[in-house]
Parts: sequence; C-alpha cells; structure tokens
Amino acid sequence: MDKAKELQKIKEDMENDKNLPLVSKPEDIIPGDGNPDAEIVFIGEAGGYHESIQRKPFVGNAGTLLNQLLKSINIKREKVYITNMVKTRPPNNKDPLPEELSAYARYLDRELEVIQPKVIVTLGRFSMAKFLPGARITGVHGKKFDVNWKGKEAVIVPMYHPAAALRNGEVMRQIREDFLKLPGILEELKNKEESAEIEIEQMNLC
Ligand code: URA
Repeated sequence: MDKAKELQKIKEDMENDKNLPLVSKPEDIIPGDGNPDAEIVFIGEAGGYHESIQRKPFVGNAGTLLNQLLKSINIKREKVYITNMVKTRPPNNKDPLPEELSAYARYLDRELEVIQPKVIVTLGRFSMAKFLPGARITGVHGKKFDVNWKGKEAVIVPMYHPAAALRNGEVMRQIREDFLKLPGILEELKNKEESAEIEIEQMNLC
C-alpha cells in the first residue's frame, strides 16, 4: 500500500474505533494532514474549534503562526506533515488526560511508522513528554535529541507550543529562534546519511 493510502486507512480506523474517547461521531476525528513523504513531522496537542470544523490540525490562530514560522525557513506547509497527540477537540479545550493520550497513541505511532520522518518536532509539553519523559521545555526547546523510539533511531526537536508563543512575547522570540535552527538540523542529518551511504558503498567494493 502506498503511504497516502496507509494514512487514509489510519483515518478510517480512527473514525470506526468505538473505543476512542472524546468522540461521538466519526466526523469528530481531526486526522493528521500533510505530505506522506514529509521529512519533518510536527506534533501538537489536540484540535480546537477551527480544527474541529475544518477537520485539519493547526488551522486557527496557532496554525497561522505555525504557517508563518514555516515560511520564515522557506518550508511550504504542503511539504511537512502536521498532527496531534489527541485527534479530536477536548471540551473547553482542556488539557488531554493520560487515558486520552494513551487511547490515541497507537494511531500517532502508526502515522510515524508510515511517514518515517527525518525529524519530529514536538509542539508543547504533551508531545514532548511522549519522546522525552521528564524533560522541561524551558531547558530543552530548540535542541536536537537522538532517541531510541520503538527500537529505531528518531531525531526529536522539542519546541514551545505556538499558542503559548501567542500569549507570551519571550516565548514568541524563542520559538522564532528555534525554527531558524531546523534547516541546519535537517542538512546535518542528510550529510550524515550521505556519508553513511558512501561508507557502505566503499565496504561493498572491498
Ligand atoms: N493546537 C494544537 O495543539 N493542535 C491543533 O491542531 C491546534 C491547536
């Protein structure tokens, strides 16, 4: 199955999953959105009002900021994949509960398995905690972490949530600065992959 079809299947599986919390009808699901071949996946928290209407992540005010941040590094939104920990809108936009996070986790894991991004950018503390349990956003934002995720290497760059940046000028300054580091991180990873490929070719020639 190609990647787009696999992502479509994940969406349908969520819509048909009667055990998912915070859902009363299939249309409540806000699936991930973007390029199935994305090099970068952004993971937020949960949908809000606008996301629930358009059934797309990050299309409200936080999404407008995310679009601007992507533009600042010359990356088109269509090039990346954007998703949430909880793929619906919690009532009153409350913080997701542990059982809600864990109910949706297997669908997020499937998305990551299909896309196999080079970099995962976590937006806010809930997605950060999935990969860097115990980390504090103030100490780790904008840094690159190599983690072992389900037996595979994954590169995580935790960032502040865009909604937090909209509320606080200093967080806005930091998220802008952190985004500017992303192209360099990607470039470094590609160079590393290239050198590894050359090394393998040389070993095969010996
Ligand atoms: N905040 C999130 O975490 N996700 C969205 O999709 C929108 C706002």
